[in-house]
Amino acid sequence: MDFQLTEEHKMIQQAARDFARHELLPGVIERDEKQQFPYDQVKKMGELGFLGMMVDPKYGGSGLDTVSYVLAMEEISKIDASAAVIMSVNNSLVCWGLQAFGNEEQKQKYLTRLATGQVIGAFCLSEPEAGSDATSQKTTAIDMGDHYLLNGTKNWITNGATADVYLVIAQTHAELKHKGINALIVEKGMPGFEIGPKEQKLGIRGSDTHSLMFTDVKVPKENRIGEDGFGFKFAMKTLAGGRIGIASQALGIASGAYELALNYSKERKAFGKPICEHQAIAFKLADMHVSIEAARHLCLKAAWDKDNGHNYDVSGAMAKLFASQAAMDISVEAIQVHGGNGYVKEYHVERFMRDAKITQIYEGTSEIQKIVISRAIINE
Ligand code: CAA
Repeated sequence: MDFQLTEEHKMIQQAARDFARHELLPGVIERDEKQQFPYDQVKKMGELGFLGMMVDPKYGGSGLDTVSYVLAMEEISKIDASAAVIMSVNNSLVCWGLQAFGNEEQKQKYLTRLATGQVIGAFCLSEPEAGSDATSQKTTAIDMGDHYLLNGTKNWITNGATADVYLVIAQTHAELKHKGINALIVEKGMPGFEIGPKEQKLGIRGSDTHSLMFTDVKVPKENRIGEDGFGFKFAMKTLAGGRIGIASQALGIASGAYELALNYSKERKAFGKPICEHQAIAFKLADMHVSIEAARHLCLKAAWDKDNGHNYDVSGAMAKLFASQAAMDISVEAIQVHGGNGYVKEYHVERFMRDAKITQIYEGTSEIQKIVISRAIINE
């Protein structure tokens, strides 16, 4: 068993670290405060290949493995978890889904532009009454012969207003339940497609989250991904990979908060010595370090499973469950290490705590991950 990263992995990690420090750190507090989408930074991410990391170069992607993606996601999330979720949705849920299950025309038409960041994508599954219970889709895609007539509402959609390409999950044959669901490629500007107001969020405030409304939107038949009724499987398979991305985002939030706490504890003095020399703080740092190392191993193991053709439903769910809890715990402790300074914006750790919470909610709550894991171990 080899725990060493390859030279290529180290280079990608360093490139993402440099990009995050030089391009994302400036203005990150202001973007969070004003809920500003990082347009310029996302454009540069596209130019550097961070938006289509696992896409085949013939479709404009970087042709890298999932391990590289995890390493880059951690570095980006250490600085700006909002930029990281934009990157993760585009990579895991949109580009990967299209590459794995789209046909050649769909790849030519959409994937190249998505992988290079000329446009970004959104994945639209959640609804007012179907978040965790994903089979209960109320959005309908009625088969009209040469097109589907799409009606319904989607909620909490990341990249909701900034995307140009939307993968929308909708029910076509209600009597078939999850086997009657389809995944459709919807373009911004199709008549009847409206974008709701921006959500005012606790964290990841630099990313834009919206409801989407579809009223008699005519979606051409050629925009269906896979066979009729493949939409639920498409969503589940895509989300399984997405969970590795969000686990890495959580890992980055945890390690970003930890590094700030570690540095601060070496500089801040109390009772005549740096606070890291007080056991109360040193033990916190030790606990954080161990949790991060464990989370990183789970993330890389899930990525390795995916890269080597093994099932990654459970390893991805375990990585997300553990890393998101670590992000929450460590960001809270990082504030404690900073004392009063931790409670003000300029020290960054309060943002990490607010950003951490969503990693326990989106792409399947922690409870959903436990369903996936427990079903697998019971049926083993
Ligand atoms: N791969 C392939 N197929 C899968 C699968 C997977 N990982 N998981 C389930 N399926 C298949 C099953 O095999 C089954 O198919 P068959 O009937 O042919 O056997 C079918 O899907 C239904 O599976 P279940 O009976 O297990 O379905 P369930 O209703 O019990 O739900 C669940 C399972 C795990 C709870 C699932 O509904 C789920 O993951 N829910 C959470 C959804 C989610 O993550 N929502 C977040 C929204 S996206 C988001 O947040 C994006 C963003 O903007 C950041």
